[in-house]
Amino acid sequence: MAQYDVIVIGSGPGGYVAAIRCAQLGLKTACVEGRETLGGTCLNVGCIPSKALLHASHQLHEAEHNFAKMGLKGKSPSVDWKQMLSYKDDVIGQNTKGIEFLFKKNKIDWLKGWGSIPEAGKVKVGDAVHDAKNIIVASGSEASSLPGIEIDEKVVVTSTGALTLPKIPKKMIVIGAGVIGLELGSVYSRLGTEVEVIEFLDAITPGMDGEVQKTFQKLLQKQGLKFTLGAAVQGVDASKSKAKVTYKLRKDDSEHTMDADVVLVATGRRPYTDGLGLDALGIEMSQRGQIKTDSHWQTNVKGIYAIGDCIDGPMLAHKAEDEGMACAEVIAGKAGHVNYGVIPGVIYTHPEVANVGQTEEQLKEAGRNYKVGKFSFMGNGRAKANFAADGFVKILADKDTDRILGAHIIGPMAGDLIHEICVAMEFGASAEDLALTCHAHPTYSEAVREAALACGDGAIHM
Ligand code: NAI
Repeated sequence: MAQYDVIVIGSGPGGYVAAIRCAQLGLKTACVEGRETLGGTCLNVGCIPSKALLHASHQLHEAEHNFAKMGLKGKSPSVDWKQMLSYKDDVIGQNTKGIEFLFKKNKIDWLKGWGSIPEAGKVKVGDAVHDAKNIIVASGSEASSLPGIEIDEKVVVTSTGALTLPKIPKKMIVIGAGVIGLELGSVYSRLGTEVEVIEFLDAITPGMDGEVQKTFQKLLQKQGLKFTLGAAVQGVDASKSKAKVTYKLRKDDSEHTMDADVVLVATGRRPYTDGLGLDALGIEMSQRGQIKTDSHWQTNVKGIYAIGDCIDGPMLAHKAEDEGMACAEVIAGKAGHVNYGVIPGVIYTHPEVANVGQTEEQLKEAGRNYKVGKFSFMGNGRAKANFAADGFVKILADKDTDRILGAHIIGPMAGDLIHEICVAMEFGASAEDLALTCHAHPTYSEAVREAALACGDGAIHM
């Protein structure tokens, strides 16, 4: 059997990035993956396919709502759903094959099959047992449902089923106003589906800056999405082509029902560690089913590491990637590091929503002396030209030192704009540092600079 310096279990963004970095650092590396293609949830049934459908449906929205305003007249395109799905599959294929190419380029062996760890230093795949000085578990997460709901991935679906529906439903109920619910809810709403979102809490996107939550909900409602907030879903009764969702309003405990052709359950994800044999190894787990690690991603068993969705922290592909790189560096004897205080979050709706660092609510709770610099995209020339003036940039900075503590953007390309603020935060920059940096005109990024200016003597275009 082959002997490796490192075997990574799982080829999602955490696992494949860890494998590539290990190989680049001169370690003989293999990666175990049981799916037909590399890339994990993100590339196969998550981030990438959903972005393809978001892009396609946004183009339709532009054609229907904005083309005529710009003098582009004619019939709006109609939706060929089969072709849209095949475009999405093509995008998946290009990305997963890209990882296969990177594995070959870096001489990483793909061990095909589902892996388990019979003992420290060994990984079993099928009948073969491979030796590994180090093992990185990057087994990811799976959709978690609610009691009383049976997922059939046809009528009652998770994000996986929602990416391959045989036809565009007339009515969809989304349970959970989190990232998945709102991204996929947006896709179907733009394609003509009546979308109703039922959310347990009194606001959408829990944990997000309060002002962004309110603006975001208003904009989504304008696009046609409907919301029932403060409602706990009790169960779903499904037949072959219909489903009835029962929920209770938290304010008065009254019970209600709602019908739909498809129900998307988007109530969160849980770590996926089935079949790895972690119990028998005595690996410590948290109460939420996450693998416990030390600050260098090592479990309580020497030589076994874990990264990504199966450990603590936000379930985000880029957080997993960063951990993958850092863990590889630690194994190679270098100083791997992840700054958990500067991990951006992005929702790829239209407009996009992005955040990094602390929210105003968190700063208030911590009793921190802070100031707010805010700038609306209404004052941004480029945004106005592109029908993208909804939303704002909000920068939170320490009142005394001016150091940036957090940023919250709702608006065009928010998911890209957030990164100059991430870099600034990594450098411990002040809002003035951003404000004094020349930004090209006309760009959306000027709104970031204006928000930084608003932390000081004031924005110019507001
Ligand atoms: P989430 O945790 O973002 O949202 C789940 C929502 O369901 C919450 O608002 C919660 O209050 C609600 N909920 C829970 N029980 C409920 C009930 N009984 N009735 C009504 N509502 C209920 O989870 P989501 O959207 O499923 O995403 C899972 C993970 O995947 C998240 O960690 C997310 O960050 C990640 N993800 C990230 C993406 C991105 O970065 N763009 C895209 C897709 C997923």
